[in-house]
Amino acid sequence: MKALLLAGGLGTRLRPLTDDLPKPMVPIMGRPLLESIILNLKKSGVDDVVISTYYKSQYIEDYFRQKEDLGVKIHYITEESPLGTGGAIKNAEKFFNDTFLILNSDIVSDVNYADLIKYHKRRRAQVTIASIEVRDTSQYGVIEFDEKGFITAFKEKPKPGESNSKYINAGVYVFEPEVLKEIPENTVVSVERETYPKLLEKGYRMAIYKFNGYWIDIGTIDKYKKVHEDILKGKSRFVSTTSSRGIILGDNVKIHPTAKVIGPAYIGNNTEIDAYATVGPYTVIGNNCRIGQESKVSKSILWNNVKVRRFARLDNAVVTSECIVEVNMEIKNTVFTANRLASSTMTT
Ligand code: GDD
Ligand code: MG
Repeated sequence: MKALLLAGGLGTRLRPLTDDLPKPMVPIMGRPLLESIILNLKKSGVDDVVISTYYKSQYIEDYFRQKEDLGVKIHYITEESPLGTGGAIKNAEKFFNDTFLILNSDIVSDVNYADLIKYHKRRRAQVTIASIEVRDTSQYGVIEFDEKGFITAFKEKPKPGESNSKYINAGVYVFEPEVLKEIPENTVVSVERETYPKLLEKGYRMAIYKFNGYWIDIGTIDKYKKVHEDILKGKSRFVSTTSSRGIILGDNVKIHPTAKVIGPAYIGNNTEIDAYATVGPYTVIGNNCRIGQESKVSKSILWNNVKVRRFARLDNAVVTSECIVEVNMEIKNTVFTANRLASSTMTT
């Protein structure tokens, strides 16, 4: 089975996390989101993926080219200017001659792809859209459907009162390749705003696949933090981890005997925690980090290669890769990036 991963968006709402890398590559529990998506697809029998890129495309290619052991064949297709979701799907047409999956790449979910595909085939649908029920539908595509589970209308980000349905597009689709002929070539097209309404108008069989499991899109910083909290609370199976008393340790982690780690927490490979430092709860620390003596890090997410010097305090912070948090520095309720470090006035 093949899958197309839509990964070309600008990730504007996630800035500054997306200043240096594309949204699908932000780390979730220490690993790029896109890598975890691919590993989950592999578990469901997907062995071939096409990544459709635009913004910071090289970053994605460079990362996966040195990950040949993933066990999934990866193709890249890059746009010179953004084609929109529908244009990106059309652009990848040559890769698909059988039923295939399409995924937005900014979603952490426990949707069962194998079950979704089975459902699609059973319904003999030409497109199946995975859907969850939410209270506020305004930021999503909204799906209306009949009692048999066939879609009757698709409304992208409807205005208040425009739809009574609470079922939203979860950004996971199954397509039969024949529907691609309805998308014009080399044109900017939104699959949500243009293609789905057109397919419905033309009488294509579009099914809704409802599921109740964990689902969140990481479109904003608040959601980025929430997804970590939820995974640490055990609400999602998106990332497979084994923990002892809520503390998940990578390889070769060195914790000084006087340091304290309070779960739930995740500490990545080769990270060192120095004397009398406190880490946790609800804290995720990436690979090759160092938490200096007597520093305190709580409710925070640190990416890889972050150095926290002595006596620093971090609370409800996100610190991006390679940052140095200086001695005594206090970072609260904010995102701290390497660039800001260079220009910020800080206590040292
Ligand atoms: N290749 C390519 N080219 N990919 C794109 C482009 C493009 O021009 N534009 C967007 N994408 C990718 C993004 O990287 C993302 O993975 C996906 O398409 C969806 O784009 P977003 O920008 O994240 O859309 P959204 O969050 O506003 O809405 C979408 O997701 C919701 C669920 O989170 C829609 O599909 C909604 O209907 C849906 O409910
Ligand atoms: Mg999105």
